[in-house]
Amino acid sequence: MATCIGKIQLERPVMLASGILGISLDVFNRLYRAGAGAVVTKSLSTEPWDGYPNPTIFSVNGGGWINAVGLSNPGAPNFAKIIEPNKDVPIIVSLVGSIPQDFEMMIKEFKNCKITAYELNLSCPHVAKVGLEVGDDPELVKKIVSTVKNSTNVPVIAKVGLGTTHYLTTVSAAIDSGIDAITAINTVRAMAIDVETQRPILSNKFGGLSGTPIKHIALRCVYEISSKYDIPIIGCGGISTWEDAVEFILAGSSAIQLGSAIGENWIHVFNDINKGVLEYMERKNYSTLEEMRGLAKKS
Ligand SMILES: Cc1cc2nc3c(=O)[nH]c(=O)nc-3n(C[C@H](O)[C@H](O)[C@H](O)COP(=O)(O)O)c2cc1C
Repeated sequence: MATCIGKIQLERPVMLASGILGISLDVFNRLYRAGAGAVVTKSLSTEPWDGYPNPTIFSVNGGGWINAVGLSNPGAPNFAKIIEPNKDVPIIVSLVGSIPQDFEMMIKEFKNCKITAYELNLSCPHVAKVGLEVGDDPELVKKIVSTVKNSTNVPVIAKVGLGTTHYLTTVSAAIDSGIDAITAINTVRAMAIDVETQRPILSNKFGGLSGTPIKHIALRCVYEISSKYDIPIIGCGGISTWEDAVEFILAGSSAIQLGSAIGENWIHVFNDINKGVLEYMERKNYSTLEEMRGLAKKS
C-alpha cells in the first residue's frame, strides 16, 4: 500500500483533505492511527482569520455538502506552535494567500516543524483575493510557485479547482514553475436557497460543493491531467469507498484525499478503504499500487 507522490513517500495512499478536522495535533495522531497515510491541515493564512458567520454549511439532499466556512484558521505562526511537537504523522501543511510574499513568510514560520509537504490552496471558491482568484491568474500562480520553491526544500503541491480560467492552464503554470505534484480538485462553487425565507441559505450566499455529487467531475479532471502531463496527482472529490479510490488510481492518481466522507462514515473510512484496495490488489494480482496507476488510460 506504499505510494510515492514524486518525492513524497507514504505508507498508505489515503489522506485527510484540507479543512476537515485539520487544526489539532491530537486529531492528526488519531487519524494516522486510524489508517490515514497523511493529513492535510486546514488552509493557513499569514494571520488568524475568523471566517464567515453561520450558517456556513448546508447538507445537500442526496449527499454532499455546500460549505462557506470562509477559511477560518488560527494563522500560520500560531499553528506552527501546535504542530512543532509532531514526530510521527506525515503532515502536509496547506497554505492560502494572495501574493508570493504571504507564502514566503508562512514557510519561515514552519522552520522548526517536521513537514512532509506544503499544499498551496489555489482553488477555494468562496473567499475573495485568495484561492480560486489566485488559481485563475496563471502569471500569479507562476510567481507564487517559484517563490515557494525557492523558499523550501520540502515538496510543494498545488491544489487546483474549477474556476473561470481552465484548470489545465493553472496546472500548466504550476508545472512550468517547478511544482512537485497536483491535488485535484477543491470544492465546486455552488449555492442553496431556502424556499420559505426566499433567501440564500449560507451567510456568504455562495459556497463550495463537496462529496458524492462532485466525484465524477474530480475523476474526469485527474484523468485529463494525467493524460496531458507527467506530474504526480492526488485525487480528491467525493471519494468515500474503496471502489472510488481504485477508480482514481486507475485514472492516474498516486494517492487520494477525502473530506466529506468523514462526515458521513467517521474515521473508519480510512481503514475501510485501505482494506478494500488491498483486497482488490490481491484479487487482481498487483503487488504495488504503481502497477495499477493510470491503467484506465490504456487504449
Ligand atoms: C467544511 C470544509 C472545509 C474545507 N476547507 C478547505 C480548506 O481550508 N482548504 C482547502 O484547500 N480545501 C478545503 N476544503 C475542500 C476539501 O479539502 C476537498 O477538496 C473537497 O471537500 C472535496 O473533497 P470531498 O468531496 O472528499 O470532501 C474544505 C471542504 C469542506 C467540506
